[in-house]
Amino acid sequence: MATGCSNDSAQKQKNTTNKQDTHAKKSIPNIFTNKQSKQAFKQTIKLNHDEEDKHILGRSFFTIPWSQAPSATSARDGLGPLYSANTCIHCHPNNGAGIPMKNGFISRSLVMRLSIPNIQNVDNDLIEKNGFVPEPTYGGQLSLHSNTNTPFEGRISLSYENIILKYEDNSTCEIQKPTYSIKNLQYGEFDKNVNIAPHIGLALIGLGAIEMIEEKDILAKEDIYDKDKDGISGKANWVYNPESNTTELGRFTWKAAAATVKQQAANAAHNDMSLSNPIYPGDNCTDKQTECLEANKGVHDFDLPMYRLDAIAFYLKTLRIPRERKTANFAKGKKIFNSLGCVKCHTSEYKLSDGNTIKPYSDFLLHDMGDALSDGHTMFKANANEFRTPPLWSIGLYEKASGKMALLHDGRARTIEEAILWHGGESTTQQRAFKALNKQDRNYLIEFLKGI
Ligand code: HEC
Ligand code: HEC
Repeated sequence: MATGCSNDSAQKQKNTTNKQDTHAKKSIPNIFTNKQSKQAFKQTIKLNHDEEDKHILGRSFFTIPWSQAPSATSARDGLGPLYSANTCIHCHPNNGAGIPMKNGFISRSLVMRLSIPNIQNVDNDLIEKNGFVPEPTYGGQLSLHSNTNTPFEGRISLSYENIILKYEDNSTCEIQKPTYSIKNLQYGEFDKNVNIAPHIGLALIGLGAIEMIEEKDILAKEDIYDKDKDGISGKANWVYNPESNTTELGRFTWKAAAATVKQQAANAAHNDMSLSNPIYPGDNCTDKQTECLEANKGVHDFDLPMYRLDAIAFYLKTLRIPRERKTANFAKGKKIFNSLGCVKCHTSEYKLSDGNTIKPYSDFLLHDMGDALSDGHTMFKANANEFRTPPLWSIGLYEKASGKMALLHDGRARTIEEAILWHGGESTTQQRAFKALNKQDRNYLIEFLKGI
């Protein structure tokens, strides 16, 4: 059987008959799955009863829609007044990546971050803790939805221009360049220096394992001033984590602006759904949004108290990672991936303290990707052109989970090939080397990427 968690039952049987084996298996928890269906990112690792309860509780907060206060179901009220979606799973379909358009409409998984340049009246505390200066009236993110009596903030408008790129062998590939604007603003004009930065929901794979990677293993690859002169620098993002009240290594989100899964879950709850929580208290209103400030609030101190946040983070950290799916030309494609230098940023392997080896294909560092990919947005140490190398594991299963493939920070690339062709800045040499490959080698590389 090629798919399904067939290993589990096989292993259980073995464990009852062979005690030694039980011990060996225990020290290396089974964090992987063979599932390849659209459920591939939703498989639970082996847990004891208490842990399983916590996982299920977290899953329920992650998947069940929240409602506006006051509501009959006070366990789940507190949504809004301003929000982007009413459940986490909406932007992470089947725990996979978001897509920019759905049924001809802008999808909710496309989030528009708003900021203004940090020029005058620099508020050092704000920059240190928030990482950027939010738009004064609308805040750090455009809310597309709202509760009764509170106007929503605005709508996103998106159009694509098709561009034909040529390979050295003269064959071509069409990529699509997005243009974004905001319409129907409900609280007046934006600040004239506003920057709008579209970010698409990320696939939620192996987050617990990523948190376990030792900091020194990530920092070892930093080369801020490109001392080895390979054209690739790599810089860690250092971000404020309100939970610990310290600056920590950023590992999560497109700009590596969150240190832990829990911090990002709390941030998403606050900014995407306006659920107040102990890490990001208060509602997601600016002091200029009176209706938002005066709206009904949930009946509890926090819409998401700490035990709920813990459960959500626990749920995401106790999901299995799909195993590699090696097809006929996997090894050939891997050779090309290494020889082109993709692996310089998409680092393949890490050994974790629990004995597991994971292959996320990311260095979790920031790289300048050139002007064509720039989102104009700074976040802590990440500049306008800089993004965290996204993990590539399970990229071949994205389409199954989300129904469509949408890669890069705003989901502009419809295929792996398009995503590679957008690479610029520090990855220009690798992009050119890809364009110089013949069709067969390009296909081997893509076959490999679909199987990792
Ligand atoms: C409106 C859409 C939306 C909703 C709702 C949403 N997310 Fe996200 N999520 C995103 C986007 C967009 C990103 C990337 C953020 C960025 O880079 O700016 C993201 C990133 C993440 C990440 C980081 C993953 C990684 O690999 O770095 C985690 C974890 C996460 N979300 C968890 C949650 C949780 C938990 C909830 C519910 C409380 C939630 N999200 C609700 C859109 C959403
Ligand atoms: C200098 C570092 C660097 C190099 C070299 C590099 N990449 Fe990337 N890669 C990135 C970053 C950063 C992004 C995210 C860019 C964005 O979202 O705008 C990315 C995105 C991707 C994506 C899309 C992933 C997703 O989840 O959206 C794919 C696929 C990819 N790279 C494959 C490759 C291949 C294949 C090569 C070699 C030809 C390569 N990369 C070389 C840094 C690099």
